[in-house]
Order: sequence, then structure tokens, then C-alpha cells
Amino acid sequence: MSDKLAIKVTKAAHSKLPNVDFENLPFGKTFSDHMLIGTYADGAWKDFEIVPFGDISLSPAISALHYGQTFFEGLKAYRHDDGKISVFRPDKNAKRFNISAERMCMPTLPEEMFIESIAKLVDIDRDWVPSKEGYTMYIRPFMFATDPYLGVAPSTTYKFMVLVCPTGAYFSKNLNVKIETEYTRSAEGGFGYAKAAGNYAGSLFPGKKASEKGFDQILWTDAKTHEYVEEMGAANAMFVINGKLVTPSTRDTILDGVTRDSIITLAKSWGMEVEERRVAVAEVLEAIENGTCTDAFGAGTAATIASVAEMYHNGKTYVLPDPSKSEFANKMRKALDDIKYGRVEDTRGWNY
Ligand code: COI
Repeated sequence: MSDKLAIKVTKAAHSKLPNVDFENLPFGKTFSDHMLIGTYADGAWKDFEIVPFGDISLSPAISALHYGQTFFEGLKAYRHDDGKISVFRPDKNAKRFNISAERMCMPTLPEEMFIESIAKLVDIDRDWVPSKEGYTMYIRPFMFATDPYLGVAPSTTYKFMVLVCPTGAYFSKNLNVKIETEYTRSAEGGFGYAKAAGNYAGSLFPGKKASEKGFDQILWTDAKTHEYVEEMGAANAMFVINGKLVTPSTRDTILDGVTRDSIITLAKSWGMEVEERRVAVAEVLEAIENGTCTDAFGAGTAATIASVAEMYHNGKTYVLPDPSKSEFANKMRKALDDIKYGRVEDTRGWNY
């Protein structure tokens, strides 16, 4: 901990830990004993505190509630076999946090404040980091506007908060995905590249409609033509076609995912060709049909590598090769886990 950021700590009187069933941890439902909260006012960040996890009191007029001036990040902490705990690539999330902040007209947070806030909270609640294989501690930093003002204008005050939750897998099965041809997640000039809450709120209705028809996720397509792949649910879309890793290039409609970047980096280091470019829906469907698409998956912090079993497009179902036998996805999952859980040397300095 540097002395740049003083964080006041008030410990919970009783830990909830003994009541937690670490064998059964659905994503995002169990919160640790503490949370971090910091305040932005008068042009500066101040009053960073770790306090017992609990409800907070806010004016019902805050602009985050009315106009959605709020965004979040997602990252994870891992317990190594020797008991050490590391957080995966928090510097990447710190940078993206500020990219989101700028787009949402909110104050940036110095990267070291972001990282130190997380490190201190994870350290205080270190006993909450699961040790069971496949389980992790999900870390949710977020910022929201707190001016009690109903005019449509950037707030002048904000809260930065971090919550941590021990969690199991986000998806428990291979995905049956609908390629979306009506709704869009994000349009050019919008804020798809930011982790703005509104991006996720807008995805709920199309997601509900897809779920009612039996689909697990949506493969989002571009707003203008619905002919190009954008993202998959709340994750980046990636494919292996003709032995190459193919993924939509990042742009203003697409999030620059940390898992996406890690997969690209590792694939390149294995000598695999990687294409980051516009990816046509027709190309993917044709490749599934002629057997050259051997893998399709969503890549994200929560999702990790979520393999696709089937894709549906305009009345037709396209079946992918059995994901459990996928050489690439299985090798990549293992390679990433080996780094995150400290089982191999962390040559890139990804573990904090
Ligand atoms: C993450 O992977 O952290 C995400 O943003 C997904 C989340 C919306 C569950």
C-alpha cells in the first residue's frame, strides 16, 4: 500500500463467512463482509473508506437513477495453490474504467487509486477468496452520479465503490445463441465501448425475448445492417475459423475486453494467426456449415470462455462441433487458469 491513498477501515463486527456455502456460489449473489466507498466532490476524490457491506442512503433525486450516469468494471481475484492471492490484470481495468468515465462525462480515477482500493478490499476479505477449482472472487468496481438534481447535466459529485463476491461459474452449460437481427446493443457514435450501465439495461428486453424462445445468449450484430458480428451477450465474440483466431476488431460499439486481449496475446505466442477485423455473420455461418469454424465462444471476465453449442439465424440452426472436445478452447482455458492460479511463471506480469 502506498501512502498516496489513505483508506479508513471500519471492520464488520461479525463475519458472515461461517454462513456461506462455498460449494454453492451462483454468480453475483453472495457479498463479502466489506465494501469500499470513495467520494468525488469539489473537483477531487476523497474520503476513501472500507466499511461493513450494507445498504447505503442516497437522495432519490440522484442523476444516476434518473439518467443512468453510471458505469462499472469487472475483474477477479484468484487463490493460488500456495495460498497467495492475486488479481488478474487490474491495470487494464483501471485504464478502461477511465475510458468509461470520460465517455460518461464523469471524473477519472488515478489508476493507482483504483488498484489500491481493490487490493486493500481483497486483502481485508481475503478469507472470502474461494479455494475450490473454478471458483473465484469477482470484483465489481463502479461509479455513479450523486447530484440530487433533475436537470439533464453532468453531476458534480460521485461515489466510487467496490464490492467483492465469491463466485462459481457464470455459465453452467455450452450456449445456444440467437444471432440478433432486430435489436442492437450499441450503435456507432454510441458508448458500446464503455461499461455503462445503460448498455446492459438495453440488452435485457431482447435477452428476455430470446430466453423465452429457449436461447441462452444473443450474438449482437451491427446496428445498420445486422450483417456483422459485434459482441456475444456481455462478452466479446471469438471464433476459430480455418485454424485462425478471428474476432471483431474493437471500435466504438465494442468493449476492449481484458479476457479478449489475454486470449489474443496467448494465441499469438503459440504461433496462431489472429485476425481482428469486421466479421460477417454470413462468413461465420458458412464456416460452421463447411466445418471450418471449429470454435465459437464468448470471452469475458465473468463468462471466462463460454463455448457455443448452437447458433440460430433467420429460422435456421447451425450446430458447432462438440465444445467439450475443442482443442483450442480447452487449451486456452487451461493456459489462462495456469497463469491466474499461479501454476506457471507469470512472464507477462499479469498477476497483481
Ligand atoms: C464482466 O465480465 O465482468 C462483465 O461485465 C459481465 C457482467 C455484466 C456480468
